[in-house]
Amino acid sequence: MPHALIHAFFDPPTSTVTHVVADPASKRAAIIDPVLDYDPKAGRTSSANADALIEWVRAQALTVDWLLETHAHADHLSAAPYLQERLGGQIAIGTHIRDVQRVFKRLFNADDIATDGTPFDHLFGDGERFQIGALEVEVMHTPGHTPGCVSYLLRSDNGLDVFIGDTLFMPDYGSARCDFPGGDATTLYRSIRKLLALPPETRLHLCHDYPGSERAPKWVSSVAEQRRDNVHVHDGVTEDEFVAMRTARDQTLAKPVLLLPAIQVNVRAGHWPTAEGNGVRYLKIPLNKV
Ligand SMILES: [Fe+2]
Repeated sequence: MPHALIHAFFDPPTSTVTHVVADPASKRAAIIDPVLDYDPKAGRTSSANADALIEWVRAQALTVDWLLETHAHADHLSAAPYLQERLGGQIAIGTHIRDVQRVFKRLFNADDIATDGTPFDHLFGDGERFQIGALEVEVMHTPGHTPGCVSYLLRSDNGLDVFIGDTLFMPDYGSARCDFPGGDATTLYRSIRKLLALPPETRLHLCHDYPGSERAPKWVSSVAEQRRDNVHVHDGVTEDEFVAMRTARDQTLAKPVLLLPAIQVNVRAGHWPTAEGNGVRYLKIPLNKV
């Protein structure tokens, strides 16, 4: 079985982890959940994060085949189109992104938000397999945080590595929120139990960490560790207990600063809204709707 190279970049402003997965023999690679910097006060994007990623990918002499999203994020803008222009690769996400596009096309009343999965280059069905060089990856539909969330399962001679998006966080932080449109705590519990049914030594690679000042950020945990220690969903927590906890907790959480800017870009696969007659692109903010 081939060896896998896995490298992570942590973005402190959004607490997001971007992962690069590569087959060292063929130098083929995938980038998971890349971040475009965005200053909401100025409405200005920048690319320090993405440029650092590009520099690293070029230094390793990797060829990017895939730009993978685990879901349409609500906390950062995707850098996938920026990376695609410079590194190539297909932008892909789970097939249920169409459900998410439908919700937000309606909310933003935007003709240029599709509901057929475009402009993503590829939509993965549950159980679909694809290659990164000699590495095989399987897609698992893990909805709950959003209806479109997927996890990517990578088998290599290191064992099983799973990129789980927003499902579980580190054991001391718990689980992802379920209060965005289309989110559902019961569905998330079932997705998490599917992940926790994987072999105990399976490494789980997170999309975020929120360490506070207590510890340094971390983004790798194991099934065994989560089953033993996850504060929200360790072994023994029932579906009803989890749903009651998650629903109560979500009612106390403020909306993420970038929810509205990010989601309207990310359901367009990271592309920005069409420019208006004056050549300027605008993000839209619906009043009193979320
Ligand atoms: Fe998310």
